[in-house]
Amino acid sequence: MDAVALKTEAARDALSEVQSGMKLGIGTGSTAEAFIHLLAERVADGLSIIGVPTSERTAALCEKLGVPLSTLKETPALDLTIDGADEIDPSLGLIKGGGGALLREKIVAKASQRMIVIADESKMVDTLGRFPLPIEVNRFGLEATRLAIEEVAKSLGLSGTLSLRGGEDDPFVTDGGHLIVDASFGRIPDSRALSRSLHDIAGVVEHGLFLDVAVLAVIASSEGVKRFTP
Ligand code: A5P
Repeated sequence: MDAVALKTEAARDALSEVQSGMKLGIGTGSTAEAFIHLLAERVADGLSIIGVPTSERTAALCEKLGVPLSTLKETPALDLTIDGADEIDPSLGLIKGGGGALLREKIVAKASQRMIVIADESKMVDTLGRFPLPIEVNRFGLEATRLAIEEVAKSLGLSGTLSLRGGEDDPFVTDGGHLIVDASFGRIPDSRALSRSLHDIAGVVEHGLFLDVAVLAVIASSEGVKRFTP
């Protein structure tokens, strides 16, 4: 089975957690999109949910497929968020943000009673960090923020390159109007310390470490779908 089919299998399995009446956070990325297609079929068959999208891209797909949407302003407390991830460790620590939606993804996940991560098995790692960590930063003071990130990394024994997503001339801009620095630190032995230190940097809006957020991982492999808890 190829990666696309595996993503769909994980999404299909997680869909069993969605019940009528739920207020549902809806993730971003190719796995979340597989989920949205299946969700839309259930909605067409009568499932009554209201979704809160984690990105403009997800909102557009939900609108196209007829999934009813709300906003966190109208619906600030959600039952469940289902989203993909770039990496998942054994305690269900995640790296997210490969699609650039990490800020809204984290806000929506944390506004939810439960967050379920769906993925194919390639996303499972022993230690986070193989995937470059997306760090959303304010445009103002970009150079100072980059220096501060480098210093934080050094103090934690991490080294690696920081690259501005999209390049210096035409950087990628998030739905919130910010920039993303991708930090290739390699293995991150103490993700909690890194999370705290990055949050202490004034120019950092959010980072892609999602720790103690997911309560269930639904992982598809060629041997079938498995469920993991922290
Ligand atoms: C979006 O910003 C990300 O957090 C995605 O959830 C993550 O990149 C996973 O994307 P795929 O499902 O496309 O691998």
